Amino acid sequence: MEEPVPEGNPFHTGKARGDFLAGARETLTANDVGDFVKPGRYQYPHQWNWDAALVAMGLAHFDEERARKEVRSLLQGQWLDGMIPHVVYHNGSSDYFPGPDFWQIEQSVAAPHGVRTSGLVQPPLLATCVRRMHRRARDRQASLAFIQEIYPRLLNWHRWLHRARDPEGTGLVAIVHPWESGTDNAARFVQPLMQVTPSQVPAYQRRDSAHVAAEERPQHADYERFVYLIDRFRQWAYEPEIIYQRSPFLVQDTLFNAITYQAHEDLIALADEIGEPTAELERWRVRLRRAFNAKLWDEEEGLYFAFDARHHQLVRENGVATFLALYAGLADKEQAEVLVGAHLENPEEYGPDANSRFRVPSQAKNNYFYEPRRYWRGPVWILVNWMVMQGLERYGYQALAENVRRDSLALMADGGFFEYYDPRDGSPAGASDFSWSAALALEMLEPLPLSRPA
Ligand code: DGY
Repeated sequence: MEEPVPEGNPFHTGKARGDFLAGARETLTANDVGDFVKPGRYQYPHQWNWDAALVAMGLAHFDEERARKEVRSLLQGQWLDGMIPHVVYHNGSSDYFPGPDFWQIEQSVAAPHGVRTSGLVQPPLLATCVRRMHRRARDRQASLAFIQEIYPRLLNWHRWLHRARDPEGTGLVAIVHPWESGTDNAARFVQPLMQVTPSQVPAYQRRDSAHVAAEERPQHADYERFVYLIDRFRQWAYEPEIIYQRSPFLVQDTLFNAITYQAHEDLIALADEIGEPTAELERWRVRLRRAFNAKLWDEEEGLYFAFDARHHQLVRENGVATFLALYAGLADKEQAEVLVGAHLENPEEYGPDANSRFRVPSQAKNNYFYEPRRYWRGPVWILVNWMVMQGLERYGYQALAENVRRDSLALMADGGFFEYYDPRDGSPAGASDFSWSAALALEMLEPLPLSRPA
C-alpha cells in the first residue's frame, strides 16, 4: 500500500516520489567518473572538497562502499601538513579554469606526492558527512573500520585549520580567499575583496561562462582578485604563516566557522565511537563558540556578520550565512527568535512574497547587492536550505523547517537537479545535473534513523 502523501507535498503519488528518488540516484551515478563523482555534469569536471563530502553522503543511501571510496579519493589529495585542498585533479586538465598547472603546488614542501590539487581549502563539511554516513550504515562493521581508518586524517585536517588559520588563538578560523568560503561572490566579501588591489595579474582565461550564462556567475572584478590572490600564495610557496600574516584578504567568516563548529561536534562523536581522546577538539569547540558570539553577533541588527580580520571590522551585509548559527546550534534561544522572527520570516528579506515565492534566497532581498540569478548573490541553494532546515528543527521551528524542505523538493522536482534556483519563480540556474542537489534530495526524503548511536 502506498504511503499517504502529506498536503503540499510536491509528489502527488508514491510513483512520482519513487521516480524523483531514482532521478537523484541516476544523477550521482551518471556523474561518476570512477575515482570520483563530478560536482556537475559539464561545469565542474574535477573533485571539489565540500562537494565530495556531500556526494559521499548521498551515495551512502544506495552504495556504502562507493560512498567510502569517494571520501578516500578526496583524502588522496590531503597535503602532508593536514590541509585538504578545495580541488583534487585526479584526471588532469579539462576545460575548467584554473587547471592543475595554474596552482604550482610543487612550490610547497607540504604538497602531496603523485596527485595534483589546488592550494586553497573549502568549508570542512567532511566530518559531518562522514558521521551521517556512519549513522545510516547498514554494514556497521565496515563503517566502524572505515572511521578507524580515516579518523587520524580528519583530526589532522581540523588541526590544520586551527594551526594555519588561527595562529593567534582567537577561536575563529580565517579564510584567505573567497573561494575558501564556497560562496565566492556573496555580498559579505565585496568590501574585503575591493580592498585588494590587483597588480601584475598573471594571464588567464575564464572558462566558467562556457556552460553557464555570464549573468549567473561572478564578475570580472571578482576574478581579477581571485587570480591575483592565488598568484600571491604561489609566490609565498603556500607557507601558511606567511599567508596568514600577509594575505590582503583575511576574513573570519560566519558560514565557514559555523560549519567548522558543527564538524568539531561531529568529529568528537566519531572519536567517542572509536575510543579516541577528545580534549583537544573540545578546546577548539568551546573557544570557537565563545568567539563566534562575542565577535560576529551584532546585537543592534540581530544578525551574525563576517569579520574582516585584515581591516578589523564587521562586514554588515545581510546574507543567508547568518542562519548557519542555527544549523550549528551556536545561537541562544533569544538570538534564534530574532534571526527567525525578524529576518528569516520577513518578506522584505528572506520570507516569500508576491514577487518571490521560494525560500531561502542566499542574500536578503533588500540587500544592496541582491541579484536573484547571480551565483551567491541571491539564488536559492539546496545545500543552504538543508542546513537552514536542520537549524530550524534544532530550535523547534518544525513547521517552518517543513516549508523549507517542501520548497527545496519542489524546486528540484520541477526544475531538475540544478546548482541554484531563482527565488522569484523557481527557475533553475547555474550548472545542470548538479550532484550535491541530488545527494541532498536523498537526505531530505530519506531521513536518518533516530535511534542509531554517533
Ligand atoms: C568556481 O569555479 O566557481 C568555484 O567556486 C571555485 O572553486
